Amino acid sequence: MDRFEPNLRIPGPTALPPTVREAGARQMINHRGPEFAAMLARITEGMKPYFGTTGDVAVLSCAGTGGLEAAVVNTLSPRDRVLGVSIGSFGDRFAKIASVYGADVVKLDVAWGQAADPVAVREAIERQGPFRAALLTHNETSTGVMNPIPELAAAIREVNADTLILVDSVSALGAVPFAMDEWGIDLVVTGSQKAWMAAPGLAMVAASDRGWAAMETARMPRFYLDLRRHRDSHAEGQTPWTPALAVLYQVDEGLRLMQAEGADGVFARHEACAAAARAGLAALGFELFADPRFASRTVTCVRIPEGVDWKSVNAGVRRRGVVLAGGQGKLTGKVFRLGHLGSVTVEEILGAIGALESVLIEHGRDVEPGSAVGTAQAAALESLGVGRRAAATA
Ligand SMILES: Cc1ncc(COP(=O)(O)O)c(C=O)c1O
Repeated sequence: MDRFEPNLRIPGPTALPPTVREAGARQMINHRGPEFAAMLARITEGMKPYFGTTGDVAVLSCAGTGGLEAAVVNTLSPRDRVLGVSIGSFGDRFAKIASVYGADVVKLDVAWGQAADPVAVREAIERQGPFRAALLTHNETSTGVMNPIPELAAAIREVNADTLILVDSVSALGAVPFAMDEWGIDLVVTGSQKAWMAAPGLAMVAASDRGWAAMETARMPRFYLDLRRHRDSHAEGQTPWTPALAVLYQVDEGLRLMQAEGADGVFARHEACAAAARAGLAALGFELFADPRFASRTVTCVRIPEGVDWKSVNAGVRRRGVVLAGGQGKLTGKVFRLGHLGSVTVEEILGAIGALESVLIEHGRDVEPGSAVGTAQAAALESLGVGRRAAATA
């Protein structure tokens, strides 16, 4: 492993492209000076199309969890009734933050592996509402499930037009299309170490007019994470506190690379990588943990079958330079996850599938060498619209 760069296939932090790494090593600048103001504006403006908003974006120096905490403490008051829709461990975390700060949280716990059902959400609100806010997870990294956010938002609005809809998109935004203004979402959180191809250290938060208005009356305590301070300071080209400057350099460069590729190209690449991961893992005999209708486009989670000594398989894969993620919480030892977000390429996914294939053969499994890699490659090509015939006539 020491001789080569690992193929880091965990769902964040993601591997950094060379120019992003170099950006992080740049000399410090005055964070109250014009160069910083220009960079901050490039970042906030550059991210707006990915959020799907024309509203303000705040850049906080903290982990994604800090962004979730900001979502809660800026918009809510103690004893506010909140619907915590949870489809996995990050949904649980979001709900937990709200209850720690004194919200009256009603959990809607969905079986892990499933997405939230808009009808069930509507019924929960009819039965137990009204709610001041609903907490949703866009991409549940622990289970590899992507929630149907526009449908869920529409179901919530149908019953409670004024409910604030707060979305954790830490592990999806930037990798898949999102349209917060169009879908009527009030606040969205993302993190630098996921689709944005940068190191951990920044959470980006966008809010709707209704979201910003809610901050004027919300009474939960906040200081460092006060989003209004961030918005007002950003208007002056600054951040309220000393920012994680090196990570801003990286996000700025990551966004430049994403702009060069084009958002559609970024989304198509993620889709192709997801298709390759799912097909390759299925060909190796791993069952998708997620309901396939809602399988994530940034992380694939599969069950570890009976008879597979995962510790030993994972050690073999690591020796080949591929780093996979294990299960989280109650899924520990039951699943593993293969991340495909950020700077990921189809070739990296094929490499990971190939490593797994070799190790399983080593372990005596009945796998034809190259078969899973071939299946994965075909799925990626199909996803990209590059069939065999197209290649033959090209
Ligand atoms: C969906 C989701 N929400 C929140 C978080 C928390 O982010 P952080 O670990 O940066 O606090 C993560 C991190 O993996 C995540 O995947």
